[in-house]
Amino acid sequence: MKLAISAFLAFALARPLASAAANPDSAVSFSRDVAPILNRQCANCHGPKKAKGGFRLQTFDNLMQCGSSKKPPITPGSAEKSRLYQLLVTTDEEDLMPKDADPLPKAQIEIIRRWIEQGAKFDGADRDTVLSTLASSATHEAAPKTYRSPEPVTALAFSPDGAEIAVSGHDEVTVWSAADGRLIRRIGGLPSQTFALAYARTKNLLAIAGGVSGELGEVRLVEPATGRLVRLLATLEETALGLAFSPDDSQIAVAAADQSVRVFDTASGRQTFRLDDHSDWVMSVAFSPDGKHLVTASRDKTAKVIDLPGGEVRRTFRGHDKQVYDAAFSADNQRVYSIGADHMLRVWDIDDPEKSGKKSSPTALDLGAEPLRMKVTEKGVLVCCADNSVRLISADGRKALRSLSGGSDWFYALSYDEKSGRLAAGSYNGEVHIWNIGDGSPVLSFTAAPGFTPAANALANEPEK
Ligand code: HEC
Repeated sequence: MKLAISAFLAFALARPLASAAANPDSAVSFSRDVAPILNRQCANCHGPKKAKGGFRLQTFDNLMQCGSSKKPPITPGSAEKSRLYQLLVTTDEEDLMPKDADPLPKAQIEIIRRWIEQGAKFDGADRDTVLSTLASSATHEAAPKTYRSPEPVTALAFSPDGAEIAVSGHDEVTVWSAADGRLIRRIGGLPSQTFALAYARTKNLLAIAGGVSGELGEVRLVEPATGRLVRLLATLEETALGLAFSPDDSQIAVAAADQSVRVFDTASGRQTFRLDDHSDWVMSVAFSPDGKHLVTASRDKTAKVIDLPGGEVRRTFRGHDKQVYDAAFSADNQRVYSIGADHMLRVWDIDDPEKSGKKSSPTALDLGAEPLRMKVTEKGVLVCCADNSVRLISADGRKALRSLSGGSDWFYALSYDEKSGRLAAGSYNGEVHIWNIGDGSPVLSFTAAPGFTPAANALANEPEK
């Protein structure tokens, strides 16, 4: 089944919690399973600012303390006797939590019930840890040892020396040899999905952005050679979708489904600003080559140019009339390319040509297929499309120079290695293809799924009992 990228992402983000809910016998972890639910569903009214009913839910300690009713919220070992559980399942609409909203999904109530029945244990390091932090620093699901079927590639990146390619996996990032497609390393302990990967050019860092469907978003910095966590840069309430290092690696910009764009100082991890000007998911973010601007692409049908370091919106491009999936600067910092659900590649001046008295010459190239991601290179603009191809478009955005074929599914992710002039693209069916941009010749293709063999796939496709 084929899905447009927005639909695909919606599908991917809505994937149910695979862990505790699925297996009724497994132990429920407070940090991993319960904290994200409470943090997301209850913190608005029982968080740092408000304590409705005299009850706070910001930390595990809070959770165990009585509110106005003076009845203990949790009675370890008995969900029935626990006031908090009673309020989740009561048929009295007045009492039902979350207040004035639909009851929690059955699977989430079940997780809380089992956690209480199993003794309501705390498995984090510190009972004073804020639930959101606790949730995201908890161990994520272990990655499958061998993949029964390939995962769609939603992000990939060449290492700075071009020797390795990091690819999004299931609860992990896998690292492959760009020379022969051999699996080199697996970086686990990640949330189920990865939507953006970026290596720092000058620092020994790989940034990984993703999240767990409807629960949290995360941005991690890891040491590429070992996968060791250097810093949990950000935990968000929604999945992180885009990521970029500044040209000098001193800053990291993050785009997220919570409609925000955030910029962090790489060395200290401090957030330097947050922009909430978009009204829908921000799909991508990129720095200008001179480091003076950001460009964002959003499902709200706009792309925006943002000035740094302050974070003021300099321009908003509205011409796509549909979701904008990706945007990037030209090498001279003067123009922005954007692609969207209207099948167009558009080129914009970052300053309004009308205002500066110049003649306006908006450029729009109809790609004839849905473009999903793009990359600006010295040879032109690379765009991967929903027709199983990657196109090379001239730098002025007017002409398709080349179409790289050989793929058998939609390409969702791109990375370009300037030194070797090679392009890697990852597709919905889990394949990674590498081409030489110079002459368009294919170099290598492999399926980025550890242990996967087509025979195993045949088994996986049998109906599950
Ligand atoms: C929209 C606001 C809102 C949300 C969201 C919300 N609550 Fe409440 N909660 C209240 C209010 C208001 C009260 C006070 C009692 C009342 O008015 O029913 C309350 C009371 C409680 C109490 C009783 C405290 C006491 O001792 O009297 C518990 C326990 C509780 N909430 C748990 C939760 C849980 C768990 C969630 C998330 C699943 C949640 N609440 C979400 C507004 C909210």
